[in-house]
Amino acid sequence: MPEPPPDLPRPHTRRRRYPGRNPRDFHDKYKELNAEQYPADVEKVLASGRTPAGTHRPIMVDEVLRCLRPGAGEVAVDCTLGGGGHARAILDRVRPGGRVIGLDVDPLELPRTETRLRAAGFGPDVFVARHANFAGLPKVLAAEGLTRVDLILADLGVSSMQFDNPDRGFSYKGVGPFDMRMNPLRGESAAQLIARSSEEELARLLDENADEPHAHLVARLLKQQLFDTTHAVDRLLRAGLTTALPRLAKADVKMSIRRTFQALRIAVNDEFSALDALLRSLPQCLAPGGRVAMLTFHSGEDRRVKKAFQAGYRGWVYSAVAQDVIRSTKEETFANRRASAAKLRWAVRAPD
Ligand SMILES: C[S@@+](CC[C@H](N)C(=O)[O-])C[C@H]1O[C@@H](n2cnc3c(N)ncnc32)[C@H](O)[C@@H]1O
Repeated sequence: MPEPPPDLPRPHTRRRRYPGRNPRDFHDKYKELNAEQYPADVEKVLASGRTPAGTHRPIMVDEVLRCLRPGAGEVAVDCTLGGGGHARAILDRVRPGGRVIGLDVDPLELPRTETRLRAAGFGPDVFVARHANFAGLPKVLAAEGLTRVDLILADLGVSSMQFDNPDRGFSYKGVGPFDMRMNPLRGESAAQLIARSSEEELARLLDENADEPHAHLVARLLKQQLFDTTHAVDRLLRAGLTTALPRLAKADVKMSIRRTFQALRIAVNDEFSALDALLRSLPQCLAPGGRVAMLTFHSGEDRRVKKAFQAGYRGWVYSAVAQDVIRSTKEETFANRRASAAKLRWAVRAPD
């Protein structure tokens, strides 16, 4: 429905009806999607270990803060602003005198997060939100009149807001367009990428991005027909894998589908190239004594971060790096399933 002119009263709109007692569809979860209006309902969802629709629960906040040690007057970059949970925790600690620059490639969620942080009392003097890819971090800093900062955080992958919204096409659980772009205004969707790629290219991508053991079979299935919804891909892979590999357990079929979605998301958003570019630019963007923390969610990401930090330590670019990966506590993993895959690493920039 088009927006009424500002001087006309808003038309009364009825909430969409949903079958059963509780809404199941993302868009029907009107209480969770209005967290400020329905705090008690949102608490109930959180207590059950789920993430309310349209929100993102920041992962390992205390551990990230222990690695970054933000202090008053420091300048921080949150390379992956998302819902702003980590940024908010950092903002609370860099005041007075400091500031946070938050980047995100997602032009849809970025303004919402900016509005939330402004409403929480963080004005443009302490917080700026920039629509940018962290692959171009030095350019973003230059545009802010900065060359080096004290703290850098990257919490990789997609947010729950993106993942859970079926319109974004990230998950096989919802029904939506097979898109998967963090920035839907640029590049090609997952459906277009599959249509353009050969079977061999897809098999390589599935193997390299997600270690999919049935990469060749999945690639063949993906090239069997054209599809444009997440549901169609899920159905096709479920049926194809079960028929071709009748001994494969249901859970393994599900894992293959999950890995396929992950591999395609990484390719659609060029995630490894962006991460490699960020890792290369970190030493020039961090002030001496500056700290970086990185949260990764699968081995392909963690391997890259670990290698770059260790090489930097050997080359005296970093004076200290995480020897071991830091994982979420049992309590957090229990309360937020998405924390279970998270791996945190840190490094400290050496003096020049
Ligand atoms: C896991 S979420 C971050 C959540 C955030 N830490 C919080 O507390 O809400 C990852 C975010 O990074 C963004 N992102 C992923 N790759 C990016 C890139 N190369 N440049 C900038 N933003 C990126 C995604 O759009 C997403 O919003």
